[in-house]
Formats: sequence, C-alpha cells, structure tokens
Amino acid sequence: MTGSQQSLKKLSPEDQAWPWWPLLPLYPYGKKRTLYREIIPGQLWTFEQVQGLYYVAVPVRLTVVNTGQGLMLFNPLPPTNELKSSLDKLVSTYGPVLSIVLPTASGLEHKISLPALARAFPKADLWVCPGQWTFPIPFPSSWIGIPAGRTKVLLKDGLPHEESCEWISLGPIDIGLGRFQEIACYHKPSKALLVTDALVAINSDPPKIFDFDPTPLLFHARDRGDELLEDSPENRRKGWARLVLFASFLRPEKLKIPPLFEVLKNSFKPGLRSPTAHFGVFPFEWEEGWMATTKDLLGNRESLVQIAPVLERLVFPRAKESFCSWLENISRLRGMRWLVSAHFTAPVPFSSRGAIKLKNQIKKRNWAPSEGNYSFLDAVDKTLLKQGVVPKDPLAKFRDSDLRD
Ligand SMILES: [Fe+2]
Repeated sequence: MTGSQQSLKKLSPEDQAWPWWPLLPLYPYGKKRTLYREIIPGQLWTFEQVQGLYYVAVPVRLTVVNTGQGLMLFNPLPPTNELKSSLDKLVSTYGPVLSIVLPTASGLEHKISLPALARAFPKADLWVCPGQWTFPIPFPSSWIGIPAGRTKVLLKDGLPHEESCEWISLGPIDIGLGRFQEIACYHKPSKALLVTDALVAINSDPPKIFDFDPTPLLFHARDRGDELLEDSPENRRKGWARLVLFASFLRPEKLKIPPLFEVLKNSFKPGLRSPTAHFGVFPFEWEEGWMATTKDLLGNRESLVQIAPVLERLVFPRAKESFCSWLENISRLRGMRWLVSAHFTAPVPFSSRGAIKLKNQIKKRNWAPSEGNYSFLDAVDKTLLKQGVVPKDPLAKFRDSDLRD
C-alpha cells in the first residue's frame, strides 16, 4: 500500500471550487480540498474531502474501483478540477469511467454531487440504490439532475460489474420520511468491502486530510472562545476526539451549552476577530471527564470498526436483527481483508472473523442505549416515535412487498 500521492503542484483556487455548495451548505462551502491516495495498488484509489457544520467536519470519500474493463466510481463527491485531474490520470492508465454508483438511499451528503459527477462523465452508466428520496420536498430523481436515460436501479435493474464485484444490501428500513438502505460492494480482486455509512473505522489520530487545514480540530480543541487557536499534535488529537463525539452523538453527554452572555463575553477578542475563528463565538463547554467517554469510539494502534451511534440509535434501534443478518452476510465473503467506508479512516483491516466478532458483540451488548452519550439521540428517537414520524415496526412496510428493490 502506498501513502499519500498528493500532487505537489500549486493549485489555483479555481481547481478546488465547488459552485453547487449552496445546495447543501456545509463547511468548507465553495472550496473543497481533495486528498488523493492509491490504497490498493492498481485496484483501489480514494478521494477524500471534509464536510461539516460549524467546524464539526469529518472526511467523506469517493472510492475508485478497477473493474478490469474500466473504472467504477463508488459514492460520488464534488468533481472539482483537482479531483478530475487525478481521475483523468487513472483513466489514461486503467480505462474509462464505466459507472458511477450511488449506493445509499438516504445519505444526502453522498447524493448531492451525483448530477455534477454524471455531467463530468457523460458516457458512464449511473447506478443508484433503490428507494431514493428527498426531503423536505419529494422531487423525482430527474428533477434533481440525475439523468433518467442512463440511470439504473441496483438490484431492480441488475447489478454492475458482477465479474469482479459482489453486492450486499443492508435494509431497507422504514425511517418514516423515507427509507434507509445501502448496498455494499465487495471488490473481489482487492478483497475490499466498500460501504457507505453502515460501518465506520475511527482512530484517535486525526485523518490525514486535516493536514491541509487543521482549523476545525484546533477550533474545537479550545475550552473557551477567547483562547487562540494553537497548533500542536495534542491539540489536533483533542479537537479530533471532540469532533468524533459530535459526529457520533450530535450532543454528547459531557457537552454543555453556556449561557449566551458568557459566549458573547468571550467573543471578539484580539487575534480571533476573523471568520476563520468564527470571531471567537464558541457556544460549547466540555465538562470534566469528556475524554473518557470516547473510549468505545476511538481505536489507538488500530482503528475501531463499529456501527456509527447515530445509525444504531436513530435508524436501527428496533431493527438490530437486520443489522446482524447483514454482518452475517458479509462474513461469508471469501477472503475479505479490507474495509473501505465513506467516512473516517480507510482502508482498515477487516475479515470474516472481524464481521462475526462484531455481530457477537452486538448480540451481547445493550443495543441502542438511552443513557450517557446516547441520551440526546434517545430523546430524538422517542419524540419522533411519539409523533408517529417513525414507525414502531421499521420492517412492516417491506414485508411481503416488492418495495424491497
Ligand atoms: Fe454518509
């Protein structure tokens, strides 16, 4: 495996421009730096960008797969000039982009860039997960720029590149407004399982992409808004641990929101009067012991493979068996060695034995808990359930129904 292969050539701001950012206004908005890596030589390459809200930023990843006949793009990303120029080099060596796969029904952060990526590769077939939906307005896919003429639905219309790929569905799960479903891809030549949100692997070391700009880490490493952003390896790790807590639990247990007057008192201090420092506005207060609550999330030497807490508590709280069956299915993949998720760290070692071990841990432990870090997610789920937004039985709609595909 080779390390970072980022080109050293100077990039212009236009090379990183993403003009469609207002469609999903997430940090870093209209300028997206991309980290390009070859992760399995001659077989798999990844492009990573960061995305987030109020500097709670996590990596989001597109994986390029060598199908033997040409390339498959798995999980779209904004096709900036920077991304396209590295992709063009792969095309000249390994053949054209044959297909672009959107393997999730619900992940807006993955589907938002599909139309632009489709326009960048007008000859590629598009494959999408069944049950695409938009919120708050349910637009047909063609209205949001997904070209109907060359779009096929995974499972319903077949599956792409079956000579080198096996496809395994997780879901569908009825989440009220639409469905959760994702189709994982096992790429046999590289022995890598590609997933979207189903599993994540998290490490206590911040992902490499933050080397381009560690501002989100340093911003959240502080304890008050009047502290300057100070770059050090400790602060990067501290900030990363907090970002993981935010991304995992939305409102972690040890996070308090200080009163407005206190936030304002600490704002606009010298050295912090810039948009980069959000003018010192820092509406967070971490209670003692917060770091101890990351112990089940962050791996040290090896990244910890897990189901994201948001997924466990908000999507699968009443569908643990579905998740375990999926783990059982992926444990049958022959020779599996790697996991490549669309978020956090990738690739990480992952085998059939790892899938079984995870399934057994899940079977034994308290699933979708209500206490500690999970209390906010628990409250959200209970409210949605009470208001009838999410169903009590998330599988009822799909039982004995052809809606599965
Ligand atoms: Fe995602």
